[in-house]
Amino acid sequence: MRTTIPTTTSVGAMSRPIAIAPSVLPADFSALGEACLSLEKAGVDRIQWDVMDGVFVPNLTFGPDVIAACRPHVTVPFEAHLMVVQPELLMHTYVEAGCEILIVHAESTTHLHRTLAQVRALGASPAVALNPATPASAIEHVLDLVDMVLVMTVNPGFGGQAYISTMEAKVSEIRAMLDKRGLDVDIEVDGGINAKTIEGAASAGANILVSGSALFKYPSLAEGVDDLRALAQAAVS
Ligand code: DX5
Repeated sequence: MRTTIPTTTSVGAMSRPIAIAPSVLPADFSALGEACLSLEKAGVDRIQWDVMDGVFVPNLTFGPDVIAACRPHVTVPFEAHLMVVQPELLMHTYVEAGCEILIVHAESTTHLHRTLAQVRALGASPAVALNPATPASAIEHVLDLVDMVLVMTVNPGFGGQAYISTMEAKVSEIRAMLDKRGLDVDIEVDGGINAKTIEGAASAGANILVSGSALFKYPSLAEGVDDLRALAQAAVS
């Protein structure tokens, strides 16, 4: 069953709506429910949970119970960015916790094709992520299984890192691959997205933009969401 996540039915970068997805990594971990509510009120399109296992990346964050505790506070979609080894072993728990979208790293599972198909079978929307060193060709044979591709613009594990601008070429390459095949798939970028870098990412073909530290540095979350959205929309219009 395909999970309906708000997105356009058209293909192509220029016709895909811009979405702003905050990472909760910079939020106050002692009040994550309130943080989610503030983000929803600020107008975010979805909330990204950076799930880290201390093995795939050198950091440890959220289990499914933390996300499940926040789920009732908001209605905005949750996406679980699974920075974990063998995601197939625990990804069902994140669906049960209330995540509509599961992002699996191409580097994290031996049988990526099977794992992405399992995400769809769980009733969630499958997405595949690429670390900076992983080429677009690594996902050529699974593009038909996903609703979104996440191109990491930092090496995963921590917020507040510098944007890797050379990833823009990879975004454009994947956008071209998708458009050539007429696939209705979003491209998300994550890492170092701020007022200075968002235009390059959006111009390259990303339409879903994850921001953590930059967003939380604005005087208000609403101002940050509005500013980042306007900058991204200006870049593609
Ligand atoms: C890296 C994380 C970060 C986070 C956003 O593993 O995935 O990219 O979401 O971080 P910043 O603070 O760079 O927006």
